[in-house]
Amino acid sequence: MEKINLDNKCILVTGAAGFIGSYLVHRLFKDVKGATIVGIDNMNDYYDVRLKEYRLKKLNVQCSMFHVQWHFVRGDLADKDLIEKLFAQYNFDVVVNLAAQAGVRYSITNPDAYIQSNIIGFYNIIEACRNHPVEHLVYASSSSVYGGNKKVPFSTDDRVDNPVSLYAATKKSNELMAHCYSKLYDIPTTGLRFFTVYGPAGRPDMAYFGFTNKLIKGETIQIFNYGNCRRDFTYVDDIVEGIVRVMQGAPERKKGEDGLPVPPYAVYNIGGGQPEKLLDFVNILQEELVRAGVLPKDFDFEAHKQLVPMQPGDVPATFADATALERDFGFTPKISLREGLRDFSEWYKSYYK
Ligand SMILES: NC(=O)c1ccc[n+]([C@@H]2O[C@H](COP(=O)([O-])OP(=O)(O)OC[C@H]3O[C@@H](n4cnc5c(N)ncnc54)[C@H](O)[C@@H]3O)[C@@H](O)[C@H]2O)c1
Repeated sequence: MEKINLDNKCILVTGAAGFIGSYLVHRLFKDVKGATIVGIDNMNDYYDVRLKEYRLKKLNVQCSMFHVQWHFVRGDLADKDLIEKLFAQYNFDVVVNLAAQAGVRYSITNPDAYIQSNIIGFYNIIEACRNHPVEHLVYASSSSVYGGNKKVPFSTDDRVDNPVSLYAATKKSNELMAHCYSKLYDIPTTGLRFFTVYGPAGRPDMAYFGFTNKLIKGETIQIFNYGNCRRDFTYVDDIVEGIVRVMQGAPERKKGEDGLPVPPYAVYNIGGGQPEKLLDFVNILQEELVRAGVLPKDFDFEAHKQLVPMQPGDVPATFADATALERDFGFTPKISLREGLRDFSEWYKSYYK
C-alpha cells in the first residue's frame, strides 16, 4: 500500500452537499493541514434541497475556523467540459467520488438520473483522473451490489453479477470501470461498498428519516418483509473515519511478469458487521424519538406500524464482512445503533422544531 499524507494536498470531494460528503468535508477541515478542498454538487432536488443548503452553509461557516482553502462548485458530473476544466485548474492529488443518484426504489421510476450521474458522471471523473493523474481515486460503491446473495456475511470475494436494481447495476459498473482504468492507466482506485449509512442531517428518502416524518404526522409506517429485513447500519462518523483512512492508503502501483501494471485496484466493504432486524431498529428509533421529545411520551407506536410484504428492488438482508478493512486499515465501526439514533433524534428535534 502507498501511504498518502493528506496535508497540503488538493482534494476533490464530489457530492459535497450530500449527506456523507458534507461530513467528510468537515472532517477534512479538522484533520488536514494546509489543504485545498474542492467540493462539487449539482444540488438536485431528489430530496429537499434545503437540507443540502443547510449542510453547505454549515461547511462555509466551519471552514473559516480551520487552516484550509475551501471552494465549492455548483455543477454536474455529467458536464464533461466542467469536470475537465476543474481538474486542469486544480490538479487534484486525491479524489473522493461520492456524488451519485442514490436510492433503490427511485431507480425503478427514474432510471435516467442513474445513467447520467452514476455512469456518465463517474466516467467523466475517471477520465479526468487519467488526463490529470491523481495519487488516489476513492469512490462510493454500495452493499446493493450483493443483490439477493444468500451467503452471509457478504464478502468482496463473493460474486456480484446479479444486481436487482439499476442503482446496484450502476455501482457494480463503477467498480468494473475503475478496474479497467487502474489496469490500463495505472490509476490507484479504491471502491467502498457502504452499508446503510445513517445519522443527523441524513437522507430523507431513507427509512429511518421517512418513518420519523410519518410518525410525527400521526401516519402509519409500513415495515417491509414483515420487519424481517436485516440491515447492517453504519453511523456516518464511522463511515467518514473509514473513508479518511482509506484515502491515505492507495493500492500499490507495481508491474506484473508481463511488464504491464498489476491494477492498483481495491474494493472494501465498510459496514457495522452486526445486521439488525428492521423491527428492532424501528423500536429503538421510536424510543429515541420519544426521549428527544420529537414524539410525545405516551405515543402509541403499535397503532402506527403496519407489517407488509417485500418491495421490488429490495433485498432481505445486508451483512458486511469488513475484516479486510480491519486488516488493512485497522478500522471497524464503533457507534451503536442506539447512540446513532439518539444523535439523529436530537438533531431532528433541533432542525425541525
Ligand atoms: N447513505 C447510504 O446509506 C449509502 C449506502 C450505499 C452507498 N451510498 C453511496 O454513497 C454516496 C453518498 O451518498 P449519500 O447518502 O451522501 O447521498 P446524497 O444523495 O445525500 O449525496 C449525493 C450528493 O451528490 C449530488 N449529486 C448527485 N448527482 C450529481 C451529479 N450528477 N453531479 C453533481 N452532484 C451530484 C447530490 O445533489 C447529493 O448532494 C453515493 O454515491 C451513494 O450511492 C450511500
